[in-house]
Amino acid sequence: MCHMKARLDKILETKLKRGREILYLSRKDIEQLGVSITDVIEWIEELFRIKKECELPPKIGIHTRPDSFIHAMPAWVPPLKAAGLKWIAGYLNNRKRFGLPYLTGVLILNDPESGAPYAIMDCTWPTEMRTAAVSAISAKYLARKDSKVLGIIGLGVQARRHAEAISKVLKIEKIKGYDISKKAAEFFKSWVEKVTGTEVELVDSPEKAVVDCDIVVTAIPITDKPQHVVKPEWIKAGMTLLPIDFDAAMGAEIAAKVDKFYTDDLEQYAYYWEHTPYFEGYPPPDKAVGEVAEVVRGEKPGRESNDEIIMANNLGLAIEDMAVGIRLFYVAIEKGIGKKLPLL
Ligand SMILES: NC(=O)c1ccc[n+]([C@@H]2O[C@H](COP(=O)([O-])OP(=O)(O)OC[C@H]3O[C@@H](n4cnc5c(N)ncnc54)[C@H](O)[C@@H]3O)[C@@H](O)[C@H]2O)c1
Repeated sequence: MCHMKARLDKILETKLKRGREILYLSRKDIEQLGVSITDVIEWIEELFRIKKECELPPKIGIHTRPDSFIHAMPAWVPPLKAAGLKWIAGYLNNRKRFGLPYLTGVLILNDPESGAPYAIMDCTWPTEMRTAAVSAISAKYLARKDSKVLGIIGLGVQARRHAEAISKVLKIEKIKGYDISKKAAEFFKSWVEKVTGTEVELVDSPEKAVVDCDIVVTAIPITDKPQHVVKPEWIKAGMTLLPIDFDAAMGAEIAAKVDKFYTDDLEQYAYYWEHTPYFEGYPPPDKAVGEVAEVVRGEKPGRESNDEIIMANNLGLAIEDMAVGIRLFYVAIEKGIGKKLPLL
């Protein structure tokens, strides 16, 4: 993709001073770009087709408080000429303590020619959009085509976007949601009904957000001690399970019930499985069926029967952030949005 290099070089030669200036995009700037969840789903599906060409080391992190992390997520996506780093924090109780979201951070894009950074942006918007897009693509390829009822546990930022994204790929007729916070649940309902036009039923137990659902998303905080709020007896034939909170909500007994276990990156899954307390009792990496991207490329089967229970436990990849980040940068340059800042 020669034109990607030419496109970036041209901007770094005419719109920004290469290595000497950066474009800064706040969340507000990004929200003004006019990019939709449908755009992001398309970008991520395209990324999955070229995933094998990417450089993607496992995340490393520091932990300044209990139930917290600050992760460094570097990646290089050669066909898009997208290189950079997401530096993202997840802090429990941020909302209560500081009025801040659980996840905060920045996404930095680096020029693949000089290595110098050329853009720094808020990473909350790209993170919520790309994570929901990955789940939507997982649902598109792994869920029963007649899936109608979506259940979600943990009705925060991610849940809202998941309801929106999954509704774009399947004909969802009802969404059931459960949260320990009534305020979060009510905000979820009003936001999702407005954005998707689909009825949201708020339920008073995690069980009710799982039984009778075709697709179940869990999006609760990842804590040092997992809560495992979903019980294996609630999982029925034909369900598609899309936890985005590692094993926080769904423990090993659930993983043991699934017929096919996918993830977004087997190498990262192996890293977590081998070196961290996460995924205790989950299938060892060599027993996992494969990556969602392999299904997208037609290299691995997706759903082969309406009875299969399938889990896609997507960990979140820096290549997704870079693929979204560079597109946001291009749109911002085109529309003249953002602030140029001197670096050197
Ligand atoms: N896999 C990925 O790519 C990826 C990307 C982004 C976020 N995440 C994860 O998604 C999760 C949600 O992130 P977010 O930004 O939406 O956070 P958030 O704080 O906005 O939402 C979490 C919600 O879970 C609720 N909750 C907490 N404990 C609960 C319980 N026991 N039962 C039901 N609800 C409960 C909270 O009240 C809150 O409303 C986090 O674990 C985060 O790390 C994963």
